[in-house]
Amino acid sequence: MSVWIVDFGSQYTQLITRTMRELGFASEVMTVEDALGRMKTAKPKALVLSGGPQSVFEDKTDYSPFFTDNKLPILGVCYGMQILGQFFGGKVEKGVQGEYGPASIHGVDGYQIPGCPANHDVWMSHSDHVAIVPKDFKKILESHNGLTAGIKHNSRPMMGLQFHPEVQHTVHGKDVLGHFLRDIAGMEEDWNGQTMLQGCLDLVSQVKGKKVLCAFSGGVDSLVAATLSHKILGSDLFCFFVDNGLLRPQDLHHIRLLRENTPLHIEIIDAKDIFLGNLAGVSDPEQKRKIIGKTFIDVFETKVKSYAQDHGIKFDYLLQGTLYPDVIESLSPHKKDGKSSTIKSHHNVGGLPERMNLQLLEPLRFLFKDEVRAMGAELGLAREWVWRHPFPGPGIGVRVLGAVDEKSVQKVQLSDQILFEELKNSRLYDSTWQAFTVLLPVKTVGVKGDGRVYEEVIALRMVNSQDGMTATVTEMPWSVLAKISSRICNEVPGITRVVYDLTPKPPGTIEWE
Ligand code: XMP
Repeated sequence: MSVWIVDFGSQYTQLITRTMRELGFASEVMTVEDALGRMKTAKPKALVLSGGPQSVFEDKTDYSPFFTDNKLPILGVCYGMQILGQFFGGKVEKGVQGEYGPASIHGVDGYQIPGCPANHDVWMSHSDHVAIVPKDFKKILESHNGLTAGIKHNSRPMMGLQFHPEVQHTVHGKDVLGHFLRDIAGMEEDWNGQTMLQGCLDLVSQVKGKKVLCAFSGGVDSLVAATLSHKILGSDLFCFFVDNGLLRPQDLHHIRLLRENTPLHIEIIDAKDIFLGNLAGVSDPEQKRKIIGKTFIDVFETKVKSYAQDHGIKFDYLLQGTLYPDVIESLSPHKKDGKSSTIKSHHNVGGLPERMNLQLLEPLRFLFKDEVRAMGAELGLAREWVWRHPFPGPGIGVRVLGAVDEKSVQKVQLSDQILFEELKNSRLYDSTWQAFTVLLPVKTVGVKGDGRVYEEVIALRMVNSQDGMTATVTEMPWSVLAKISSRICNEVPGITRVVYDLTPKPPGTIEWE
């Protein structure tokens, strides 16, 4: 049993789950339909009605199943509070101005949330508001604009908040959510590293005895997924790592290290020539991504067939390190409306063809990245394996701008190696979320020795991010940038100029292609 977060489409919904888990409470996100359906046979520990872009005036859904059990703790956030206001006989009014962005709130009639000062800053994003508080509720919080910012039922464990306690700008958001969970819902902590690990092991136990294939990249997600699955599956788990020729030297080294130092059965499939052959002469980024994705599938399928033919091993499951944000994203009401546009086609083994007849095993599907890292540590994996920078599936293929060949890949490999070494030497590797180099398809003039040269340009990209959805540029010390630049110009043949990319995401994406 957990807290159910009913997603009305707010862009912040997953942060509610994340914060509740950080507070030590199990919670999961679900659609409105799913929650209403599940209420018929199951019961959450508490219910959270999230924010959302709609207006209660257009919403005709019957939410009464949420409200029949008067012991069920319920928190309404933003739109969720307006549903409470309307359902229980208060009055929601269309906002003339609304409140967007930072606001200050204070307790009404001495109401004080433990840990919060009398006035504190919150994040608002609403136009409609609860103008008349329902008869069985009282107003507990008010914004500096005089609007109702919080309500609480007089006898039932129910609270509404007009602001978003889950976003960072709400300074005491964690205290507010903790107040609901502990004081109003009367719950006790039930989510920790052990319960999280056990939940994942339980999922893997369901396929014990089956042959499981893992598309292994060596990144933290596939490493943690494989390590915990191995505990249950043992020699029935086979990890395939595809060397597509678009890797950095440190990636292959990392895979070899894992092969030697973990109990995982990792097979390296050398497919360099196939990938580079298929990419020859192609310069369009989307086409390159598609070719790399398709080649990956072809190589994988050939390998799977050879296992059946040569070893008589037929795989039943494909193990993937899918994480919760992807699962939530696929539930998103916006996604269903087709409103989210494809910025880049991500290379993802989720696209293996149906004819391969593999079912998916996704033991990390309820976890966020930071939880996966914590689990990696709990499983005894080395810190540097768990905190590796992300590396995209298409690898250097999308870091050589334009057509890719062996020489251009080598330039990025060499410059990336220098960047990596310098970050490690200056102990700054962990101070940036992702760092890499990009080969630009332009030539510029320079002087080397006493002669004029006309050579290519390397761009350095270093960003800070939480999940890759947004990013800021890492402020690297000038001396480190200067050292990297000097080494690349001196040590990488054909490069005379190094530039530093100063673009946050948005508007730039993290990768250049
Ligand atoms: P963008 O460029 O979309 O990247 O801002 C966000 C994060 O995703 C990584 N990335 C990928 N990862 N397959 C992956 O596994 C891909 O096709 C892919 N494209 C981008 C990127 O490195 C960054 O961390």
